[in-house]
Amino acid sequence: MSEIDSSYSDGFFDRADPTPDTIFYRPPRLVTHIDDTAIAAVSELYEELGIAGSLANRHRVLDLMSSWVSHLRVAPHELVVLGMNASELDANSMATERIVQDLNVDPVLPFADGSFDAVLCCVSIDYLVRPVEVLREAARVLRPGGQVVITFSNRCFPSKAIRGWLETNDEGRCAIVRDYLHRAGAFDEAHVSLRTPTARGYRGDPLYAVTARRAVS
Ligand SMILES: C[S@@+](CC[C@H](N)C(=O)[O-])C[C@H]1O[C@@H](n2cnc3c(N)ncnc32)[C@H](O)[C@@H]1O
Repeated sequence: MSEIDSSYSDGFFDRADPTPDTIFYRPPRLVTHIDDTAIAAVSELYEELGIAGSLANRHRVLDLMSSWVSHLRVAPHELVVLGMNASELDANSMATERIVQDLNVDPVLPFADGSFDAVLCCVSIDYLVRPVEVLREAARVLRPGGQVVITFSNRCFPSKAIRGWLETNDEGRCAIVRDYLHRAGAFDEAHVSLRTPTARGYRGDPLYAVTARRAVS
C-alpha cells in the first residue's frame, strides 16, 4: 500500500481476489454495469455539468477506468479513455485516444499538468487500491476549475472491490469517496448527490455522484 493511503484501517484495501487485475479484466465485457435509469442519470449529470460535447466548448475529457461506453450523449471535442481492456476501449466510439493501464500497479497518469477540462470515473472507484494517489493525479491533470465526477451504485464485481467498500452502505460509500478527494488535496469541497429517484420503493439501481472542482489557487 502506498504512503498516502496507509492511514486507512488494516485490510481496508484488501480484495477477495488479490491476483493481478490483468487476469480478471482479460476477457472483454461489452455490457453495461448499471440499469438504464442509472445510466441516464450519469448522462444527465454530464450534460448538467457542461461536460458533454457542444458547439460552445472544445473540452478535453478523461474517462478513467473506462470501457466501451462513456455515457456521454454528445462526444466531447477530445475523449481520452483509460482502462484495463484494449478491446473494450477500441469499441468506445467516442474515444479519440485509448490507453491500457493498470492504475493499481501504476497510478501515475501519462498526461501533462492541467491538460483536461474534466475527469470522469463511472462505477469503478471501488476497484482502486491506491485511490488517493489516482485522484491526486486526476487533480494534477485537470486545469484549475476543471471537474472530477465520480459516480457509483451498489453493484460491483465483489471479488475485485476493496473490503472497505463492501463492508459499508451507500452513505458510507459516499463518505469514502468524499474522503478520498479530501485526502488527494487540490480539490474544492466535494458535492455528494443521489441522482436516481428518491421515492420509497424505488427498485432500480441507485446512482450516486461525488463531484469537485480542481482548486484555482
Ligand atoms: C464495472 S466496469 C465500468 C466500466 C465503465 N466505466 C462503465 O461505466 O461502464 C469497471 C472498469 O474498471 C476498469 N478497471 C478495473 N480495474 C482497473 C485498474 N486496476 N486500472 C484501470 N482500470 C481498471 C476496467 O477496465 C473496467 O472497464
